[in-house]
Amino acid sequence: MNTGAPPKRPLLDADRPSGRCGPCVSRRTALGALAAGAAALVAPGRWGLRAAPVRSYELVAEPARRSLLGARPQWWLYNRSLPGPVIEAREGEVVRIAFTNRLPEPTNLHFHGLHIPPQGRADNIYLDIPPGGRFLYEFQLPPGSAGLYWYHPHRHRLVARQMWRGLAGALVVRGPEDAFPALAAFEERIVLLRDVALPEGELSPHGVRDWHKGKEGDWVVANGGIEPVFPVARGGVRLRLVNASNARPLHLARGDGRPLAVAAVDGRLLPRPRMVASYLLPPAGRVDLLVPLGREEEVPLVALRYNRGVPAPRLRNRFLLGLRGEGSGPPLPLPDRLPAPPPPPAPERAPERLALSMFFINGRSYRRERVDVRRRLGEVQLWRVENVGSMDHPFHLHTWPFYVLGSNRRPAPVAGWADTVNLRPGEVLELLVPFVGYTGRTVFHCHVVEHADRGMMGTVEVVEG
Ligand code: C2O
Ligand code: CU
Ligand code: CU
Repeated sequence: MNTGAPPKRPLLDADRPSGRCGPCVSRRTALGALAAGAAALVAPGRWGLRAAPVRSYELVAEPARRSLLGARPQWWLYNRSLPGPVIEAREGEVVRIAFTNRLPEPTNLHFHGLHIPPQGRADNIYLDIPPGGRFLYEFQLPPGSAGLYWYHPHRHRLVARQMWRGLAGALVVRGPEDAFPALAAFEERIVLLRDVALPEGELSPHGVRDWHKGKEGDWVVANGGIEPVFPVARGGVRLRLVNASNARPLHLARGDGRPLAVAAVDGRLLPRPRMVASYLLPPAGRVDLLVPLGREEEVPLVALRYNRGVPAPRLRNRFLLGLRGEGSGPPLPLPDRLPAPPPPPAPERAPERLALSMFFINGRSYRRERVDVRRRLGEVQLWRVENVGSMDHPFHLHTWPFYVLGSNRRPAPVAGWADTVNLRPGEVLELLVPFVGYTGRTVFHCHVVEHADRGMMGTVEVVEG
């Protein structure tokens, strides 16, 4: 177990002009000054960002033992916490994360779903932060980015094992929509869900077949606990869920048989709550559920069976979590409308076709130096993504959230904003992708992270128009 102090190294610098320290933090004492969550004001121009309040966090990735299910396995965690701490900021604010790698191998951070630059100190997945290395992440949250996101490692070929060992945390961006009265009346609860397997009291290592199927566990952990019950004081809860599993989709339903009220998908509000019997939350997906609760009412959230085309270990806890009404008033009414972001304008170009199959996109395996899709800044493009394989593949694009137009497989309309969508075998999804805001290179991939690590990933480059 590696708990000792890491060798001190200078911060890595992705975009530092030569001869200047830039925003480097070189001493522990300087890091200590960055109290988590503290807001400060940055002088205009100093970091090349506008004057804005700064939210500062310190994240340390390190091995740590933590009890679960009667065992005390060795995890890899952010700040020794399962899940990692919630990073929280408002639209317009600057998020600054002093990151230290105390793992025995390289890693980095990815901010899943956030519309921020794909390079420099922001969502730069090409960084390689070595053991003992440190890096100062820094980015400004654009207007319209309010929503629920999450962070996890994205060092190519090491993602699956690092996530499986516990590295993941939620990131929430606040915006004007959070004050929408019919929504703000609900209490908020952010829950990160993930599956685990602890044979012999330790996290099971990846086996040969896990790379093919995607690794699944037989228990689902909710905010680091098994089957927690959350008290709800206010007559209803906005339950904001992240599926941080490597490969397991969560087929969510209410245990009392009543429909789920879906208010947001991948952190973006729908025009009105959508009532569904069950909701399939793919790996990396997020969903906001509205659950009104009367006094002493209890609502269990359960996982129904789901076949993603490969044999999977059966879940031992069908019951994921419970909600218990402890308010004094009646249950809250569901809002009849929500302040949803508008759909993008119509596409300008011939569609881009992407065929997904095991470890390949369009028959090609990921190569870092190859650009698979090149677009001009400002273009809105139609992407036709098809699953030509025999198992589900959840498709994800960095930096640019897309608008799902429809599917050949689902009778009900599925339209809406998202950044991760599940594709059944034979399914074709049409997505509108507005390449706005930032130029640069990043990736799209299958979010069964074992598949991505093995090459089921491609590169998109957006260039100046
Ligand atoms: Cu959540 Cu490229 O990943
Ligand atoms: Cu991502
Ligand atoms: Cu896949």
